Amino acid sequence: MRTPLVAGNWKMNGTRASVADLAQGLVVGAGSISGVEILVCPSYVFINEVQLLIRDCSIQLGAQDLYAAKGGAYTGAISGPMLVDAGCQYVIVGHSERRALMGDSDGVVARKFAAAQEHGLTPILCVGETLDERQSDSTMAVIGRQFSTVVDAVGIERFENAVVAYEPVWAIGTGETATPQQAQEVHAALRSMAAKRSAKIAADLRLLYGGSVKAANAADLFSMADIDGGLIGGASLEAREFLAICAAAAA
Ligand code: PGA
Repeated sequence: MRTPLVAGNWKMNGTRASVADLAQGLVVGAGSISGVEILVCPSYVFINEVQLLIRDCSIQLGAQDLYAAKGGAYTGAISGPMLVDAGCQYVIVGHSERRALMGDSDGVVARKFAAAQEHGLTPILCVGETLDERQSDSTMAVIGRQFSTVVDAVGIERFENAVVAYEPVWAIGTGETATPQQAQEVHAALRSMAAKRSAKIAADLRLLYGGSVKAANAADLFSMADIDGGLIGGASLEAREFLAICAAAAA
């Protein structure tokens, strides 16, 4: 039985004041939602503040990225042990914005995934095709390459403590969502790729959908057999909207 997970990716947004408001709103609302794990991933500079606000409730804390080294002379980087020390349980790796804008290759993503686990964090591995790739029928090839690079590097056993998020690049922040059927097709393919390596791990692996999820479309997406929750960007910045998405996953 897979417990649904709804994760808020706050990206490079917020001020200390707005983030405190948002976290407080989530703490108040989350108490009445059960049957779903709720996670927030603030920008690094707000992690301590958010940790203090959510520590007495069930909302989990994550980061949006990490550097693969344990520590040392890496100016500007944040390590897995630092995130654990700050109270994080999860970390996103391989988000398409990092792949496209910050040069995170499949190999870098695999090293980040391994480093996250080595230090006790649960990685959320993002995969997803661009519009060009979808239009040229390479969706499954792209997803397969992004997923299998990590599986080949770390072994399928490591996915016992990992989450995979399917985020079509063309649906991120665009208002254009994959239809529940389009998303389910890729989720089913991801689960069967995992099942070829281990049926047990595939059956328990949580697969999130991300890309313009909002309260209005969440229930339809989450009703699909292989969609176990969502990775939410824009709609996670508003407490009421995000809580409604969480409630849709719990239903
Ligand atoms: P979006 O972002 O919900 O704003 O489309 C999703 C994501 O990038 O994780």
